[in-house]
Amino acid sequence: MIYEGKAITVKEIEGGIAQLNFDLQGESVNKFNRLTIEELGAAADKLKSSDSIKGLVVTSAKDSFIVGADITEFTDLFAGPEEDLVANNLKANEVFNTIEDLPFPTVTAINGMALGGGFEMCLATDYRVMDAKAKVGLPEVKLGIFPGFGGTVRLSRLIGVDYAIEWISGGTENRADKALKEGAVDAVLEGDKLVAAAVDLIEQCNAGKLDYKARREEKQGKIKLNPMESMMAFEISKAFVAGKAGKNYPAPVEAIKVMQKHASLTRDKAIEVEAKGFAKMAKTNVAACLVGLFLNDQELKKKAKQWEKEANDVKLTAVLGAGIMGGGVAYQSALKGTPILMKDINQDGITLGLKEAKKLLAKRVDKGKMKPDQMADVLNSITPTLNYGDFKNVDLVVEAVVENPKVKDAVLRETEDMVREDAILTSNTSTISINTLAKNLKRPENFCGMHFFNPVHMMPLVEVIRGEKTSDKAVATTVAYAKAMGKTPIVVNDCPGFLVNRVLFPYFGGFAGLVRDGADFQKVDKVMEKFGWPMGPAYLLDVVGMDTAKHANEVMAEGFPDRMKDENKSAIDVMFENDRYGQKNDKGFYKYETDKKGKPKKVVDEETYKLIEPVVQGRKDFEEDEIIARMMIPLCLETVRCLEDNIVEAPADADMGLIYGIGFPPFRGGALRYIDDMGVDTFVELADKYADLGPLYHPTEKLREMAKNGEKFFG
Ligand SMILES: NC(=O)c1ccc[n+]([C@@H]2O[C@H](COP(=O)([O-])OP(=O)(O)OC[C@H]3O[C@@H](n4cnc5c(N)ncnc54)[C@H](O)[C@@H]3O)[C@@H](O)[C@H]2O)c1
Repeated sequence: MIYEGKAITVKEIEGGIAQLNFDLQGESVNKFNRLTIEELGAAADKLKSSDSIKGLVVTSAKDSFIVGADITEFTDLFAGPEEDLVANNLKANEVFNTIEDLPFPTVTAINGMALGGGFEMCLATDYRVMDAKAKVGLPEVKLGIFPGFGGTVRLSRLIGVDYAIEWISGGTENRADKALKEGAVDAVLEGDKLVAAAVDLIEQCNAGKLDYKARREEKQGKIKLNPMESMMAFEISKAFVAGKAGKNYPAPVEAIKVMQKHASLTRDKAIEVEAKGFAKMAKTNVAACLVGLFLNDQELKKKAKQWEKEANDVKLTAVLGAGIMGGGVAYQSALKGTPILMKDINQDGITLGLKEAKKLLAKRVDKGKMKPDQMADVLNSITPTLNYGDFKNVDLVVEAVVENPKVKDAVLRETEDMVREDAILTSNTSTISINTLAKNLKRPENFCGMHFFNPVHMMPLVEVIRGEKTSDKAVATTVAYAKAMGKTPIVVNDCPGFLVNRVLFPYFGGFAGLVRDGADFQKVDKVMEKFGWPMGPAYLLDVVGMDTAKHANEVMAEGFPDRMKDENKSAIDVMFENDRYGQKNDKGFYKYETDKKGKPKKVVDEETYKLIEPVVQGRKDFEEDEIIARMMIPLCLETVRCLEDNIVEAPADADMGLIYGIGFPPFRGGALRYIDDMGVDTFVELADKYADLGPLYHPTEKLREMAKNGEKFFG
């Protein structure tokens, strides 16, 4: 044994060739935590000082190669001063440089996922051989940063500037065929042949057939572009990437700037440029929010895993109602491998549901994501039916019939008699209380909410709503089914609107108030889109549908009359009364025309201004800040109330629910994180400024306490 640590071992395998093996003890994957870097440094020193070693193969003992840095260390690390971050990166880079400078040829055998620091490790060796099923990439921009272990330096020199920009600024995970074609790896093989291939490469180098030193020099030198080519490559891509990433996500463009800056430098100087750029990004609030988001997501996964342990097996399910939502649930379940019965009361519904599933599957086939025979298998695992024939075999039912309490009550009771005693019954209701729906059931313990979002195949969130009588088993089984469908479940307690709609409607309330006070709804949309929302509130209302919004609003007003009941007629009411339901009938706040690709295109409709005139108290221009405050305060305060009322268990659940459920700007981390970043005291002061607008703007007593005590929601 040449070196033996807790994350890395080095031993001689054959003919003077050493193998450095990553195998982080007590973990299912390898990651670059502090310990691993330290051990890599120690192992590299041992290798460097040996005079008998003739080559090095780098391997992993896990299924993946190295999944990246240990992100749990980022929060503390990034909190330190910028100089410390630069120094930290430079120190880590010494380790990678030592590997790159070893006095013999080096090859990485990439057996599985090699991402971020894991792929930067691969780049430090002379050659890379890769399993056909593995993936490589530098996804750091997704965390608001970019590679900091020499990745921007080595990759841009190895595969050229254009590809490097695509890989680094896009943060893509790249398949083996692409990696080979673009020059990021040297060979693609079956997994069990990797080490032999690596040894063979080393022997060829040592026999003088391959010039590994020349390859190495390529990575260590300047980028081979003349000034004109360089200018073209960097400037054009900067504009393109900036347009794609948007100004709220600076890292993709900063990565290009850094590569441009170090293009004319050799390795050690180039790495200094990278380290400085990295530290600058790591100190942004965007990075803090995106890292926080990643950690929150891990937290949700952990919770879901705990639930899954208690779950019943879900081998066959059923959905009641083959409409927009029922059809979506059937498609998603079948696609992810749980066969499903799809029951409706009329054949037309079923035909429509199946047609929608076929359309979505055909798209996957077109895109090469699925083979035609797989498409047939998926379709065959949706069993359309007009009766309860096979319901005795079903483990879980999702009720998705029309949003009418009487109909739902009847359907749920009827279904309860048709399924086994241990089957779990769930409802996809968006507004009706789970406790109310449970009232007439014989086994309310087996019942809970399973709230999907539209379109089901696209939206990641599922709210699992626990009623007073819901058992742990029912929650656990529903969580497990949501996971099996590829969704992120969040368990919430019952209340009108649950988490997501309870928070969304006060936001619409803020919008209605602004328009009433004379704000231009188009300007409000523009400001909120600039703030980071995928669509502004008027546009979102058009997508949700004015009838749905009005109905949900009434439920919310009844549930929380103190702050959500509004006696005045709003612009939303006016749209509804004029049959302007939004996208579903091509007219809402905006008009919708079909573009060349057959997609709805939003166009301005002057008619809207005339229609809402009676409910608007004179047009007025609002500053951006005021629009943001009046929109965001009600949303944030309702999120606080959900936490205080124990609708959600933890701040992370609330914030992730809003990001996954309604597209809350991810780079802002969520509503509670947004309050934290502003400072709870500053937020309370801001809300108090708008106190006249009504109770939607009144902070809770507990929040005032938090402000006084300097407390935060996170950390
Ligand atoms: N559309 C959305 O954006 C959305 C989002 C989340 C949740 N939801 C909820 O999902 C549920 C369904 O909404 P949708 O938009 O899919 O409605 P939809 O009108 O498109 O579909 C309802 C379907 O249920 C069928 N149906 C009616 N009574 C039935 C019965 N007794 N047995 C079987 N099928 C019956 C109808 O024939 C129809 O096909 C509602 O509770 C709604 O609140 C909707």
